[in-house]
Amino acid sequence: MENKMVHIINHPLVQHKLTILRDKNTGSKQFRELVSEIALLMCYESTRDLPLMDVQIETPIATATTKVLAGKKMAIVPILRAGLGMVDGMVNLIPSVRIGHIGMYRDPETHKPVDYYCKLPSDLGERDVYVLDPMLATGGSAVDAIARIKEFHPKRIKFMCIIAAPEGLKTLTEAHPDVEVYCAGLDDHLNEHCYIVPGLGDAGDRIFGTK
Ligand code: PRP
Ligand code: URA
Repeated sequence: MENKMVHIINHPLVQHKLTILRDKNTGSKQFRELVSEIALLMCYESTRDLPLMDVQIETPIATATTKVLAGKKMAIVPILRAGLGMVDGMVNLIPSVRIGHIGMYRDPETHKPVDYYCKLPSDLGERDVYVLDPMLATGGSAVDAIARIKEFHPKRIKFMCIIAAPEGLKTLTEAHPDVEVYCAGLDDHLNEHCYIVPGLGDAGDRIFGTK
């Protein structure tokens, strides 16, 4: 049955950019640019439901009643490292957004997340929070990061990734059924190293040119 909390962004621009992103011949500079551009386009799609309110302004011609964002308190929380690549794209569209950081890496043996850093805006309880990480593989990192954020009781949480594996999506939506998930590609499966197939490889390494 279709899960209304999961959104696949199948906009042609996003899908085109995602193909170039996946290509193993795409270098770090272009990879970074594409992650940022896809994040910007996903930001546009995932903020469609922001509430608006009427204001009155003077145009050079007349008085007009027009719309502005109502209660636009938002925060983004990239999961380090790879989530950092999505920050610019979000900030380009929402310049006043607050930014928290959660540091996590996957243990190479167990594939379980190990957290090493957490600094979040203290007023998270008044905000909508967008959690950013390009890859949702087993879902362990996303589940733990969101649990951490929930301790602050934010108004709403959305999780934005570029590629998701079915395994990770199931784990995340079962652990946090109240969190809306946005992704650009839903892939086939995880391999024996818990990498997404076909995926794009190691997102952090490709963004930062490590390895
Ligand atoms: C990657 C990715 C996610 C995590 C996803 O991070 O950016 O945070 O793996 O895997 P999961 O869904 O199985 O938890 P990684 O551990 O490679 O750390 P890095 O971003 O510092 O490279
Ligand atoms: N982390 C990545 O960067 N890529 C994967 O395929 C899985 C986890």
